[in-house]
Amino acid sequence: MLEFKAQICSILSQLTSLPGDEVETLLEIPPEAELGEYAFPCFVLARQMKKAPPEIARELASRITPTALLEKAHPVGPYLNFHIRRSGLIRGLLPAILEGRGTERAAQEGRGKTVVIDFSAPNIAKPFGVGHLRSTVIGHALYRIYQELGYQAVGINHLGDWGTQFGKLIVAFRRWGENERLQEDPVQYLYHLYVRFHQEAAGDEALEEEARQWFLSLEKDHPEALALWERFRQLSLQEFKRIYAYLGIEFDQYQGESFYNTMLEQTLQLAREKGLAKESQGALVADLEPHGLPPCLLQKKDGATLYITRDLAAAIYRQQQYRFDKLLYVVGAEQTLHFRQLFKMLELMDFAWAKNCVHVPFGLIHFKDGRMSTRQGKVIFLEDVIQRAVELAQRIIEEKNPGLQEKEKAARMVGLGAVIFGDLVNDRVKDIEFDWDKVLDFSGETAPYIQYSHARICSILRKVSRGAAPEQAAELGLLTAPEEEQLVLTLARFEEQIMRAAADYRPSYLAHYLVNLARDFNRFYHSCPVLTAEENIMEARLVLIDAVRVTLAHGLELLGIEAPEKM
Ligand code: ARG
Repeated sequence: MLEFKAQICSILSQLTSLPGDEVETLLEIPPEAELGEYAFPCFVLARQMKKAPPEIARELASRITPTALLEKAHPVGPYLNFHIRRSGLIRGLLPAILEGRGTERAAQEGRGKTVVIDFSAPNIAKPFGVGHLRSTVIGHALYRIYQELGYQAVGINHLGDWGTQFGKLIVAFRRWGENERLQEDPVQYLYHLYVRFHQEAAGDEALEEEARQWFLSLEKDHPEALALWERFRQLSLQEFKRIYAYLGIEFDQYQGESFYNTMLEQTLQLAREKGLAKESQGALVADLEPHGLPPCLLQKKDGATLYITRDLAAAIYRQQQYRFDKLLYVVGAEQTLHFRQLFKMLELMDFAWAKNCVHVPFGLIHFKDGRMSTRQGKVIFLEDVIQRAVELAQRIIEEKNPGLQEKEKAARMVGLGAVIFGDLVNDRVKDIEFDWDKVLDFSGETAPYIQYSHARICSILRKVSRGAAPEQAAELGLLTAPEEEQLVLTLARFEEQIMRAAADYRPSYLAHYLVNLARDFNRFYHSCPVLTAEENIMEARLVLIDAVRVTLAHGLELLGIEAPEKM
């Protein structure tokens, strides 16, 4: 399809003298398949050609001759619509998908470019909650999507491993801490201590002061403070890594906030030199008022640094280290102001690359099932969510397919897939209402629905006990039923959807695409038998469904979801 698009661009740019890339941005996808694959709005040419757009469309159409891939160009009001030649598409596309070349063109886009993606970033002593789940799955999907486009992707976990909460934790642990409990379940236990600290501090002001002192000691390398911090960090990190392994996620770097400690002085110095940071009652503050933003505290009067100070140092470090073309922060919408301040400061520090930093925000997630939200106060623990999903998947599989081998493996893939997809299918900016029945519905807009379609194809292919062989199916031209053509056309949009998802930082495009592909497959399968069809038609259909299988699995993989062969 991208080849077709490229052809259209070159034809139009020859005929109109518009540059090819301008044509490309103008091209639209018509709302209905009967209207063709692309439409060019002729309004832009009206002034220059001194004619009405419909007349321009007619005139251009008459000057375009068909090619092996272009069936026709015809005017629809002010638009010039392009129809792909289906036989040409089928013959090119299906073998390409089966030979693993289905996304070759899209993979050119990021060649030689680097994208750094800051995602997940849970905080030590605060549980890995569902807010972090969102960042984790969206960030990870973007990571894979950008890699698919040929970018060098660097995934960074900016762990919350520094800050005043460590003063509190140290105080709490020194007073009430029990080693065994810490060892046993560090993440929960540290959170428990953190909560207890706040409860006790409400009736005892001295505690806050003590915590402040301990954090200062920590920033000054006090040995006891450092040792405790190191232990809290290590134990929590182990836990986080266990969860990531379960989710199938890896990071290129664990560079938490503490990683930048040695760079903070220099960063503050630079901010001063640029006239950005000023002393104010002993503290260091950047006045962003002229830019319509609230002032930004960089260093407290006791010398302590802040979240944003570390983020400034981190951005500068990342540019030096990776020379990124893009730096994405996949962080909840509640931190929008923080990132606006951060990017503005980078800009005011004269870093031209500040414009390549992007906050990719997302909304909140609510659980419809009240039970999920009450284990300890308002926090939802990711592990509970995952466990619940896998259990539910297990139950459904038990019901639908009790004889299945390796049920647990399938349940894990389906349960995790449901949670991940249940997040990704939503426009990320909107709040999500997470409804267990909906995300696990085998016929809804869900991972299980897509996985199930995939498994179904695997099962058909098992029955002929071989994969489809495109070279044997010289009869691909036989795929002319409307359901077959629709399925091919949807397959052909895969690359484009990956590119759109990257451009808008919206994995949801890809998620919806996969639902549509699975739906088109099921429609096709409903009216076009495969194994009972005549020999040469069967061969052609096997090639077609094999291409669907590959694309479903590939698309799910880009979203960080596995596709079982049986379920
Ligand atoms: N740890 C932070 C939180 O949980 C998120 C960090 C995001 N990344 C960053 N560079 N600020 O809110």
